[in-house]
Amino acid sequence: MNSLIYERLHSNLLYLKLNTIEQVLDNYLELAAKDDRTTMEVLDHLIEQERKQREAAAIERRIKFAVFPIRKTLDEFDFEFQPSIDRAVIEDIGTLRFIHNAENIVLLGPPGVGKTHLAIALGMETAKAGFPVYFINAGNLIERLKKANREGMLEKKLRDFTRYKLLIIDEMGYLPFDEEGAHCFFQLISKRYEKSSTIFTSNKSYGQWGEIFQDNVIASAVLDRILHHCTTINIKGESYRLKDRRKLGLQTKL
Ligand SMILES: Nc1ncnc2c1ncn2[C@@H]1O[C@H](COP(=O)(O)OP(=O)(O)OP(=O)(O)O)[C@@H](O)[C@H]1O
Ligand SMILES: [Mg+2]
Repeated sequence: MNSLIYERLHSNLLYLKLNTIEQVLDNYLELAAKDDRTTMEVLDHLIEQERKQREAAAIERRIKFAVFPIRKTLDEFDFEFQPSIDRAVIEDIGTLRFIHNAENIVLLGPPGVGKTHLAIALGMETAKAGFPVYFINAGNLIERLKKANREGMLEKKLRDFTRYKLLIIDEMGYLPFDEEGAHCFFQLISKRYEKSSTIFTSNKSYGQWGEIFQDNVIASAVLDRILHHCTTINIKGESYRLKDRRKLGLQTKL
């Protein structure tokens, strides 16, 4: 190949942002010449590499943007350790039909039983499938909504939160919401209702959600909307953290 064409080809690939093709081109053309590959095969291979790389980068961007506190997958979840969870139900949720139908998932149970793990794993699946996801702790969410409310920016903040096809609200119930927080939270749930999915995790049963909101009227209005299209996973059993402690031969009881 003459050097002018070589230079132009590389510079055009960069101009068109076909960076992967630009990187693999020289090596691949050498291989292809040795193997007598057809032009069609060469083009197919190079374009396929570019596409795969872009898909992987887009998934990575969405996962980063979701700000998961840690990455967890469904494959890493030991269903045998937690027999109160029906594996088939989780796998069905993993098909992401719930995202298409704008349904919610609520994971309830005591500490350490895998609520956050499953919520993140389902969030990762959703990000991989191309949907925008956002993970937030309930306490942080309330603080951010209240701050926006005081700055007269609540509507904008609520609009920001409605952009996510999946919002994961972790740890509902560890800290109660004050009146302003409960009011902002209700507005968020109303805005997302029947439009996009939310996954909640909580150590409190629905009957105790009144305590979170410190107001039974708001609690039941929120629950009514969440539960209208919702799958509840009630997890019972031992903390996985305890199992890890036992393995290390540390304390067996808290
Ligand atoms: N069945 C499981 N298989 C594999 N890992 C698990 C399982 N259950 C929990 N874990 C792991 O145990 C740790 C605690 O789980 P997780 O954070 O999901 O608990 P949680 O139910 O959210 O508890 P908390 O209410 O305290 O937030 C995590 O590292 C998680 O990956
Ligand atoms: Mg948790």
